[in-house]
Amino acid sequence: MEKMIEKILESAKCEILSSPSLKSVSDTRVKYLGKNGEFTAVMKNLKDVSAEQKPLVGKLVNDAKCVIEGLLSEREKTLFEKELENKIKSEAIDVTLPGKKSGFGSFHPITLVISEITDIFTGLGFSVTDGPEIETDKYNFEMLNIPKDHPARDMQDTFYITDDIVLRTQTSSMQIRTMLKEKPPLRIISPGKVYRSDFDSSHSPMFHQIEGLVVDKHITLCDLMGLLTEFAKKLFDKNTKTRFRPSYFPFTEPSVEVDVTCSECGGKGCSLCKGTGWMEILGAGIVNPKVLEGCGIDPNEYSALAFGLGIERTAIARYGISDMRIVFENDKRFLQNYR
Ligand code: PHE
Repeated sequence: MEKMIEKILESAKCEILSSPSLKSVSDTRVKYLGKNGEFTAVMKNLKDVSAEQKPLVGKLVNDAKCVIEGLLSEREKTLFEKELENKIKSEAIDVTLPGKKSGFGSFHPITLVISEITDIFTGLGFSVTDGPEIETDKYNFEMLNIPKDHPARDMQDTFYITDDIVLRTQTSSMQIRTMLKEKPPLRIISPGKVYRSDFDSSHSPMFHQIEGLVVDKHITLCDLMGLLTEFAKKLFDKNTKTRFRPSYFPFTEPSVEVDVTCSECGGKGCSLCKGTGWMEILGAGIVNPKVLEGCGIDPNEYSALAFGLGIERTAIARYGISDMRIVFENDKRFLQNYR
């Protein structure tokens, strides 16, 4: 019996000391001290031992168990420390490695174009206003002479929030807001985001416009043409020409669409202007007297010119960008070209 205990103790010692991992230590614990472990088998044989020997053998078993438990704990501690040390080593940060650079920020080309255009118009005596992107149907359409069943609503695929609230499809709502709030003479521009449910290489569901409005006595189409020609020369270069094509907007009469000579080829025709030599950047016109009247301005006393400029189109013309989608991808390699 004693020999048997000694043998078990010996082999347990060997196994514990050579245990390579915490998992194997725990397996060893089960093997020797567990319910079906080696000592349980020994205890079962205790019935063959004489009465006076029993306490002795019992003590031997208990002592052996204690020794094994002690060895197990010690081995566990050693292995735990070793594993921790390895983990610390493997996760160590080499402070001598070069760091990741975060790079310099720069303005987005859209922001740059807005600020260039704003500078030009403020230089011409315009002030800048701002308005909500979530707009009433009344200001976005109705008061701009686009009633509910008007076919012109189809020109702009609208995101409706409710029957009466929309994501503004055009900054022209700012014409109404300005005229309702302020007395003429007025000279404002209003840059901002607009939304239409369109998405392809030349349309994004969100894009930017700058609305312009001049209300004064004796404003004519000549003023509009002179103003926009001057603007184009300032934004592109002094040789830039403008072309005014008749168009239709319910809130202006007459209405025009404005092209500028392609900034890339100077009007000869290239891939950017699709060989035409021209780039369309604006819709404009003389504000419909009905709209003035609706805002409480007497059309017999005052007249107004308005224009709406597509900022992305202008940015494309200004910087020679061929696919509009890249403007919104925010790829740093693209953005870093515009500082
Ligand atoms: N709001 C028009 C559009 O988005 C542009 C425009 C503005 C036309 C002002 C005339 C006057 O297409």
